[in-house]
Amino acid sequence: MLAVYCESQSPSDPLAGLVVGERPEPTPTEGWSVITLRAATLNHHDLWSLQGVGLPAERLPMILGCDGAGVDDDGNEVIVHSVIASPGWSGDETFDPKRSLFSEVHQGTFAERVLVPTANLVPKPADMSWATAAALPTAWLTAYRMLFTNAGVTPGGLVLVQGAGGGVATACIQLGAAAGLRVWVTSRDEEKRQRALELGAEAVFESGARLPEKVDAVMETVGAATWSHSVNVLRPGGAIVTCGATSGDAPKKAELTKIFFRQLRVVGSTMGNRHELALLSQFVRQHDLEPVVDLEVPLAEARRGFERLASGDTFGKIVLTN
Ligand SMILES: NC(=O)c1ccc[n+]([C@@H]2O[C@H](COP(=O)([O-])OP(=O)(O)OC[C@H]3O[C@@H](n4cnc5c(N)ncnc54)[C@H](OP(=O)(O)O)[C@@H]3O)[C@@H](O)[C@H]2O)c1
Repeated sequence: MLAVYCESQSPSDPLAGLVVGERPEPTPTEGWSVITLRAATLNHHDLWSLQGVGLPAERLPMILGCDGAGVDDDGNEVIVHSVIASPGWSGDETFDPKRSLFSEVHQGTFAERVLVPTANLVPKPADMSWATAAALPTAWLTAYRMLFTNAGVTPGGLVLVQGAGGGVATACIQLGAAAGLRVWVTSRDEEKRQRALELGAEAVFESGARLPEKVDAVMETVGAATWSHSVNVLRPGGAIVTCGATSGDAPKKAELTKIFFRQLRVVGSTMGNRHELALLSQFVRQHDLEPVVDLEVPLAEARRGFERLASGDTFGKIVLTN
């Protein structure tokens, strides 16, 4: 079958080890279902894997992809929940120390057919598009948990999203605005700031700009480049919710004094659980949200999508269709 996989890794040239080619069909296994993929979306995670971050070389070749939606053998339309718990784990799978995402231990979703734990299948609402369904399991689920489980904000609250164009950032803007939060956004790029306003942001600022008001919570995916700003813009008792570090995880200053003196909360957040994915799917449907799509290409042209993601110029999700 056709698949998009990582054959080798390079920290400086991630696309060198990317192959679009043939991989063996998945073998049906007890407790797992074979899903015929209809759409998948790219995440920064796929670039990290090609760079050798989080994916040991001895597991190669590995089909990439965390996100997907498709049809099971009985014809049911499903969204694939990406967090795979270890055997015997019960409770919130995001707290399982041995959990993995697709493409870390098990082959990923960028393939014509994908082997998925049957317990990880979430029904796709009939009127939801495949592109929307495929955008939910990673970036949108992460944004959902950051905003609604971990930030401690309520409608009317003021949230700053660092960075405008990333998958998690656009999801935070669209979800936050739909939930009645006041969403402010930073971006290095004027065009992306304008697009953030169109998505529902109340106000936009250049990266690092002084804000007219302190905020209740900051959604942090950028890391080192924005860390000090995120600390500085919070009201006393506010929260930084951090899920990633695209610009690196070693900020020049940890800002410990400001964090303890102003009693800030630093909350780590990773993905979301299956229950949250089902709630997210409901929320998206009820509010008629459509994740903003930067580029849509067939699986066979996945390299174009990866080149676009690696450029850093994206605004929203890159969708692969099958
Ligand atoms: N923990 C989890 O479960 C989880 C889940 C999903 C993602 N993540 C992580 O979250 C991060 C974001 O992922 P993503 O897929 O949404 O997209 P991404 O492509 O990594 O996001 C790029 C975003 O970062 C901003 N940015 C990048 N470099 C910057 C810099 N030097 N200064 C200021 N802003 C900068 C961009 O903003 P502008 O271009 O608008 O300035 C853009 O919004 C990644 O590190 C990813 O691994 C973690």
